[in-house]
Amino acid sequence: MKKLLLLVTTTFIILSAYAQTNDTKMKIYIDALMQKMTIDEKIGQLNLPGSGDIVTGLASSSDIGKKIKEGKVGGLFNIKSVEKIRAVQKVAVEESRLKIPMIFGMDVIHGYETIFPIPLALSCTWDMKAIERSAQIAAQEASADGINWTFSPMVDVARDPRWGRIAEGNGEDAYLGSQIAKAMVHGYQGDDLSKNNTIMACVKHYAMYGAAEAGRDYNTTDMSRLRMYNEYLPPYKAAVEAGAGSMMASFNEVDGIPATANKFLMTDVLRKQWGFKGFVVTDYTGINEMVDHGLGNLQTVSAKALSAGIDMDMVGEGFLTTIKKSLAEKKVTLAAIELACRRILEAKYKLGLFDDPYKYCNEQRAKTEIFTDANRKEARSIAAQSFVLLKNQSLTLGGAGILPLKKSGTIALIGPLADNKENMPGTWAVAARFEKATSLLQGIKEVAGDKVKILFARGSNLDEDSVFEERAGMFGKSLRRDSRPAQQIIDEAVAVANQSDVIVAALGESAEMSGECSSRSNIEIPKAQQDLLNALLKTGKPLVLVLFTGRPLAIPKQNETVPAILNVWFGGSEAGYAIADVLFGAVNPSGKLSTTWPQNVGQVPIYYNHKNTGRPLEEGKWFSKFRSNYLDVSNEPVYPFGYGLSYSTFAYSNVKLSSNAIAANQNLTASVTVTNNSSINGKEVVQLYLRDMVGSITRPVKELKGFQKIDLKAGETKTVTFNITVNDLKFYNSDLKYIAEPGDFKIFIGGNSRDVKEASFKLL
Ligand code: BGC
Repeated sequence: MKKLLLLVTTTFIILSAYAQTNDTKMKIYIDALMQKMTIDEKIGQLNLPGSGDIVTGLASSSDIGKKIKEGKVGGLFNIKSVEKIRAVQKVAVEESRLKIPMIFGMDVIHGYETIFPIPLALSCTWDMKAIERSAQIAAQEASADGINWTFSPMVDVARDPRWGRIAEGNGEDAYLGSQIAKAMVHGYQGDDLSKNNTIMACVKHYAMYGAAEAGRDYNTTDMSRLRMYNEYLPPYKAAVEAGAGSMMASFNEVDGIPATANKFLMTDVLRKQWGFKGFVVTDYTGINEMVDHGLGNLQTVSAKALSAGIDMDMVGEGFLTTIKKSLAEKKVTLAAIELACRRILEAKYKLGLFDDPYKYCNEQRAKTEIFTDANRKEARSIAAQSFVLLKNQSLTLGGAGILPLKKSGTIALIGPLADNKENMPGTWAVAARFEKATSLLQGIKEVAGDKVKILFARGSNLDEDSVFEERAGMFGKSLRRDSRPAQQIIDEAVAVANQSDVIVAALGESAEMSGECSSRSNIEIPKAQQDLLNALLKTGKPLVLVLFTGRPLAIPKQNETVPAILNVWFGGSEAGYAIADVLFGAVNPSGKLSTTWPQNVGQVPIYYNHKNTGRPLEEGKWFSKFRSNYLDVSNEPVYPFGYGLSYSTFAYSNVKLSSNAIAANQNLTASVTVTNNSSINGKEVVQLYLRDMVGSITRPVKELKGFQKIDLKAGETKTVTFNITVNDLKFYNSDLKYIAEPGDFKIFIGGNSRDVKEASFKLL
């Protein structure tokens, strides 16, 4: 034991000495460089302009090229290809006075060219290794193409499905979101940021962007400190603790001050409380937008942003054009400019760009490491894990569910999303090559082989409103509207359906119906598609709804009338195959929702970890006068957080605690027996929730505190054990102290947040 302790201590001393020498080396290097820099060059480093169209061969004479030569550009973003990136980097390191290399960013959000499922979908895998791996592959591909900085992970907790950007995050829960934040940062950055196949993460959007009022993008956010600290900030903090190299400020205001100028967020919390050492970039024109927020002119808002703790200005050039003047007028300090400049140079140093500015510009890697068969194979397997089986009824009493489908007979594949490659990758797939994605029709045909006859009909447009459809098909993702009358398109589909043994209806949202500036006030399946679905159901044929969406949808009617629903989100470049893998049973679905699915938009925000109120509705009731409920809809969601079916069935029993009372320095284990009582091997996400029964402030009715994704063979039983420490019982109290309060706790274990078994213990 002593020897082990000695070994651990010595390793720790060696590692910290190594880190120190590295930090010292970096400091010496940057001190020397900054001594040579003029004030203009220092301000230039803070500038991240829009890259415009960098035409290879003309990089040096472009507008951007001129600025780079003058030392007015710290980095560029969303330029694709080694060739272009090398050309502009060459201008920086050969034609600018101090030859400082640039950093190259991109929105590598869920993959580079090999596209993984949208983040909301990835979060439904509850598989941290798979999520980390997706980020690692994204880093590998992006770094092979010249990129060294990604604007990801997006860790905004979101409880409002109207908000389109819910698609880009990890759902409604701070605990799950924190685990994913860590996995993503590790995936991108690895253990060594200076390797040429890792890239710097940028955690966004700091902070509380997901709490925009009414789910309208860029809208105001206002919340108590208690809610911030307990429910919204943890994933950003987790990402910082995981060593994220940079953060991005959010567009929204918090407490009357846009995040971009919010000193409380940028300095007090981020730097002082969390000890963040990286740099902070604004979001796209975040500084300029503060003029519209009503905080003053560009000079004023730029000064506010810098003084609050922002280091880099994305696109708007507020820093570039006004900070020197503000310095002369004593509106900002030289120290603030130098600190920001230092942080950006440090990032470049950590990435190894001073050693080799072209280290990410390897044409050979670009040819061999992007969109490889191996990467696509992993993307296909991860995508299949992200799908959530919402319903799988049998057609006969007590029989097996409709899914998986047999590889025989005739399948009618119907729907506006069935034969469209461009919509498969989903929103925010900047580097995607749509032509390389696989449509569902193609995926099903290839996976089914020649034993199955596949018929196809479009069945409907995305929406009856062509203007809406145009907005929902931006960025080259048009669904190529069919101009025939709606009824004619439906009739054609019904005729096709009548020739089949089973109908697969590919319906829902298009990719651009979620994502940035894609908020919806109606979160149902568009009417034109509902009409189609109803007509198909009338045929009496078995029907599987393959639901595409970037947000929780309100589908109470479909949950009643459709026998099988597989929610596939937007599964990435390989989704066509992955969906077919699940439909035909090569992969048993195991995804679990990371959001609550409401019955209607009026229930929003609806989330599992709500407070009890002083007048909770009695259990089992639909409505009670003078209780907290609605006249016209029950309090229940259609699908609760953590929900998702499998082709296997799992039984939970025997919840046991190692003790029914613990002291603050003791641990507790909670165990449960899970049995796969079906004849199909499967995976189950076993979830542990806690409730603090009495507190100095009101506490949620349930909070996720642990989960394990396990493999269970047909007929197999496993005991799953969770370790609970006093840390799991902690929360921020009214003084914002992170504490655990003695008293009674309940634990709940189950396969979703609603269907759980419980036990109790006391913290002494
Ligand atoms: C988005 C960010 C993104 C940035 C750069 C903004 O509009 O809010 O998430 O990283 O653009 O493309």
